Amino acid sequence: MRQGPVIKPIMEVLEGRRAATPPVWLMRQAGRYLPEYRAVRGKVETFLELCLTPALAAEVTLQPIRRFSFDAAILFSDILVVPHALGQKVSFETGEGPRLDAIEDAGGLGKVRPCLDDEVLEPVYATIGRVRRELPPDVALLGFCGAPWTVATYMVAGRGTGDQRPARLFAYRDPSAFGELMDILVRASASHLVRQFQSGADAVQIFDSWAGVLPSEEFRRWCVEPVRELVRLVRAEVPEARIIGFPRGAGSALTGYVESVPVNAVSVDWTSEPAFVREQIQSRVAVQGNLDPLALLAGGSALERAVDAVLAAFAARPFIFNLGHGVLPETPIAHVEQMVRRVRRGGSTEP
Ligand code: CP3
Repeated sequence: MRQGPVIKPIMEVLEGRRAATPPVWLMRQAGRYLPEYRAVRGKVETFLELCLTPALAAEVTLQPIRRFSFDAAILFSDILVVPHALGQKVSFETGEGPRLDAIEDAGGLGKVRPCLDDEVLEPVYATIGRVRRELPPDVALLGFCGAPWTVATYMVAGRGTGDQRPARLFAYRDPSAFGELMDILVRASASHLVRQFQSGADAVQIFDSWAGVLPSEEFRRWCVEPVRELVRLVRAEVPEARIIGFPRGAGSALTGYVESVPVNAVSVDWTSEPAFVREQIQSRVAVQGNLDPLALLAGGSALERAVDAVLAAFAARPFIFNLGHGVLPETPIAHVEQMVRRVRRGGSTEP
């Protein structure tokens, strides 16, 4: 029998300590590249129904843990459940991505409530409880939300866009109305994260997938400040909350992000320059990342080299191995197995 409390390697890193072997999990580790996911997905009509049915959402959350023994499970849900629980119409069209009833200008703000309808998100919190009960004790359970800016880009455009033009235009033309929408999202996201912690999440990640399109002043106003306030509101309720920030594409603006937002780790994308991240970011907080999802898709020696390069760049300090963005649906399972093996034996330096 094991003695004493079981240590979760990811939590060690989020507390600022280096793990002997970097813990590993992948963004979008549950999804279409897994046949067992596609089987469960086939049981329901819509993607939202999958997210809001605890037995099924818990099952797909656990699938990648059983298959790959990752160090963290990430709640199976979506960042767009927040606009859904704010009363905006949200649906997912197969093969086309999300569709929302667009909030094009100040007049559209009437489409959302000022606060979350908690009842709508009860199934998400129930999913966390179920996963918690089934997860091995050394595996961390991660909750998440989208950052206000990234969620707003979908709420305003009504769909995914290449350049987030509708939200950027709204923010330039009517910063005060756009600010109102952002304030609603900051409070709703804080409440959503607090409930996730209370339901059993060990840590949470804040996905700002579209942080990289903003000029520096707008980055500060619409990414840094709202996420800083979000973190403050969460820690007011959960003082020890462990939080990973992911301002994707922020580049050198990452420095300002970690100076202003007291996250425990920053997830970095694969375009980030390793020496910069090591010196400017990893000297302050733990780093997570940043394998190119296409290297994982490619496999073979390209994958081995890419894994080794990530380990060589970051494994000497507190570090969580991950991708620089999500797993692509075409990714072969054997490549994920190859990647995990290589990370766990420390790259090419050990037999
Ligand atoms: O990481 C995980 O395994 C947990 C689950 C998770 C999903 N979405 C499931 C999902 C997480 C953490 C997300 C976050 C999310 N959702 C983000 C931020 C991260 C990123 O990818 O940038 C964003 C921008 C969304 C919004 C979203 N949801 C889009 C644009 C799409 C359609 C595109 C796509 O990848 O299919 C979704 C749908 C979605 N969310 C799927 C999954 C597994 C695919 C649904 C399906 O067809 O089964």
